[in-house]
Amino acid sequence: MPGAETFRASADAYDRLVGRYSPQLASALSDFAAVEPGMRALDVGCGPGALAAELVQRLGTPMVRAADPSQPFAESCRARLPGVEVVRAPAEALPFGDGTFDAALSQLVVNFMRDAEAGVREMARVARPGAIVAACVWDYAGEMTLLRAFWDAARDVDPTRATAEDEGVVMSWCGAGDLADLWREAGLRDVRFDAITVGSAYRGFEDLWSPFLAGVAPSGAFCASLDGKSQSALRETLRRRLGVGDAPFELTARDWAVAGTVRDDP
Ligand SMILES: C[S@@+](CC[C@H](N)C(=O)[O-])C[C@H]1O[C@@H](n2cnc3c(N)ncnc32)[C@H](O)[C@@H]1O
Repeated sequence: MPGAETFRASADAYDRLVGRYSPQLASALSDFAAVEPGMRALDVGCGPGALAAELVQRLGTPMVRAADPSQPFAESCRARLPGVEVVRAPAEALPFGDGTFDAALSQLVVNFMRDAEAGVREMARVARPGAIVAACVWDYAGEMTLLRAFWDAARDVDPTRATAEDEGVVMSWCGAGDLADLWREAGLRDVRFDAITVGSAYRGFEDLWSPFLAGVAPSGAFCASLDGKSQSALRETLRRRLGVGDAPFELTARDWAVAGTVRDDP
């Protein structure tokens, strides 16, 4: 998937852009997936480790593993969660044996997998029969307010390029129904899906804008590639679209979540 390489950046830049929503989302996804004490769990595409941290809190360090192909993100996750085994690997080739986990979770990753069908099948392979495989993705085309406003503003400034890169258009699994189909095609049973809405507080518009300049994630990469004049135009258009200024404000962000159970007969 074009865009996966935009996560070979600093964890701090990611956390200030969209990672700020991740801890709240991790808690909601873990509830949705019914993660319970005693489970062995895997965080696939862990990034700097928000979901892995939530799993450690619920299950304890020895019960949690994490995987991500990005070296800086895997290193950050390791540094933040001492004792957790963090492997540098993509979802499509997880270095774990069959049936290792009671839960395999993935937060905001499915759209960045090179081969999402293979990635989800691999998550199911490393989970034991009866285990939970769950994931969530942003509602890029709808109510992920930050990214929707960003791409709408980008379309105002550079319609041709922004239309080709708008995550609400290019992401294959943007809707709840799409994810559920992917889960069923991977052979999971009892597939259920729902919306999860989280939020983040901003100190003011600058707090929201400055992380885009670091070039992390597809939105940041788009922003960082613009010349100074277009960047200023994007900044102003985004601020106007959001209707915010120097005062603190909050934004909400909607996700689609899916969960399914690994069949007894593989
Ligand atoms: C939007 S970030 C999500 C990070 C983290 N899960 C979170 O909730 O904050 C997307 C992550 O997917 C990872 N990624 C990209 N391609 C991947 C693949 N094929 N398999 C697994 N993870 C991948 C990136 O390195 C990045 O850490």
